Amino acid sequence: MASDSEIAGFRTAGHELVDLLADYLEELPHGPVFRPMTRAERAGLANMRMPDESLKWGELLRVWRDELAAHPMGNGHPRFFAWVNSAPAPAGILGALAAAAINPSCAGGDHAATYLERATTRWLAELVGYPLDGGYGVLTSGASMASIICLAAARQWAVRRVGLDVREHGMAAAQTAPLVLYSSVETHSCIRKAIELLGLGSTRHHTVPVDDDGRIDIAALREAIAGDHARGLAPFCLVGNAGTVSCGAVDPLRALSDVAEEEGLWLHVDGAYGAFGVLDPSIAEYFDGMSRADSLALDPHKWLGVPVDCGCALVREADNLRDTFSLVPPYLRTEEGRGFGGPTWFSEYTIEQTRPYRALPLWMTLSRMGRAGLVANIVRCRQLARRLGEMVDTDPVLTLAGPVSTSIVAFYYRPPAESDATLDLDEITRTVVAAVQEHGRAFLSGTIIGGREAFRACILNPAATEHDLCVLLAEVREAAARLVSDRLS
Ligand SMILES: Cc1ncc(COP(=O)(O)O)c(C=O)c1O
Repeated sequence: MASDSEIAGFRTAGHELVDLLADYLEELPHGPVFRPMTRAERAGLANMRMPDESLKWGELLRVWRDELAAHPMGNGHPRFFAWVNSAPAPAGILGALAAAAINPSCAGGDHAATYLERATTRWLAELVGYPLDGGYGVLTSGASMASIICLAAARQWAVRRVGLDVREHGMAAAQTAPLVLYSSVETHSCIRKAIELLGLGSTRHHTVPVDDDGRIDIAALREAIAGDHARGLAPFCLVGNAGTVSCGAVDPLRALSDVAEEEGLWLHVDGAYGAFGVLDPSIAEYFDGMSRADSLALDPHKWLGVPVDCGCALVREADNLRDTFSLVPPYLRTEEGRGFGGPTWFSEYTIEQTRPYRALPLWMTLSRMGRAGLVANIVRCRQLARRLGEMVDTDPVLTLAGPVSTSIVAFYYRPPAESDATLDLDEITRTVVAAVQEHGRAFLSGTIIGGREAFRACILNPAATEHDLCVLLAEVREAAARLVSDRLS
């Protein structure tokens, strides 16, 4: 318990901090997106010594303002288009602060935080049209953790079908017929990491080619499954993408659900980036079939702008999760309806024991925007992405790397025909990405599509405008022109 004088200092510094935060947010769009640090600044922070004596509140705020907030990642800026990192919603920032003030463990128990998690996971399921009757939702640190949780449940489910228990027997349970998981080559690396961590081994991740639109090739998938059966392997899980990380493609989820049903496989959908795209009526049909998944990973800390540390695992059958994770030692035993008990604890459905109050920033963000506000932002981002696609399409030195399905636009550099054919376009693209980032007027990232280096821009920020997109393309064009002229001189 903090002393009265500590709380008085907290009150004063807290008011000041909120002012600083509001100033920071107001000024953000007017400064560079990214400001590389000097060598001395990097060393100053990395080698900072822990103070022996208590720092004054004012000094804490000064360090925050001058040394930390002066060098943000950049993702709050409207011209930040890299990876899938959104600007934090102001209500979510307050939610994070308020959550820390209560600082509960959301492992479980009869307190407000655990009921708020039940409400907000249900809201997320409702937003994307995922049925939660008999199912379960848990908030996670992000989609990587949500994927591990869902795939752990899939693994236990698969092993149970042959009368074994992976918790008891380990992966030896799957030795007679090694388990195989399928997903497209465009699947996010967190799925591969989950497979490795769960002891399946990366050679049991059968990657399947995609069509020209970046969507899994269903015929190739069927062939892969049949081939693996013939080799004595045990197909157990399909992973579909509701928005690939490189180009935002949505796999044919209805066809994937059909394959899963016919073959008796668990279907997991990675909706981390794109699943909320279902809220845009103009593309809602792409997500047809998502509601049939056995599990779905979502990331409110992406397109919904909830501060980082908010993913969500939704699983159709709650019992599958509980069978995978429940372990209640005597010192954690409670009884529902007695004392602190409350409903069955979240910690019986997930790997974390002490769990942060993720539901509060999530609830504040969703409630402040309302469903209508969320939908409007998703629709607007998608419209801006389509506009960026048109701009790239008519650009003399850029060309689209694929269709714009959601709010990610991937494109290649295509130098004028008269340029030297020996130019290494992959190297130029990589160098342009870094040059644009360092220049600080706009920020994008790169990827590989169809074996070639590509630029990619992901639009998530409610404050982004068409002008910001023009600046981004101008930055890319200018950096590329400079490089090509250097290379040719
Ligand atoms: C499609 C997709 N899946 C999964 C992830 C991993 O999510 P997280 O970084 O929240 O763990 C990402 C992150 O960008 C992603 O874009």
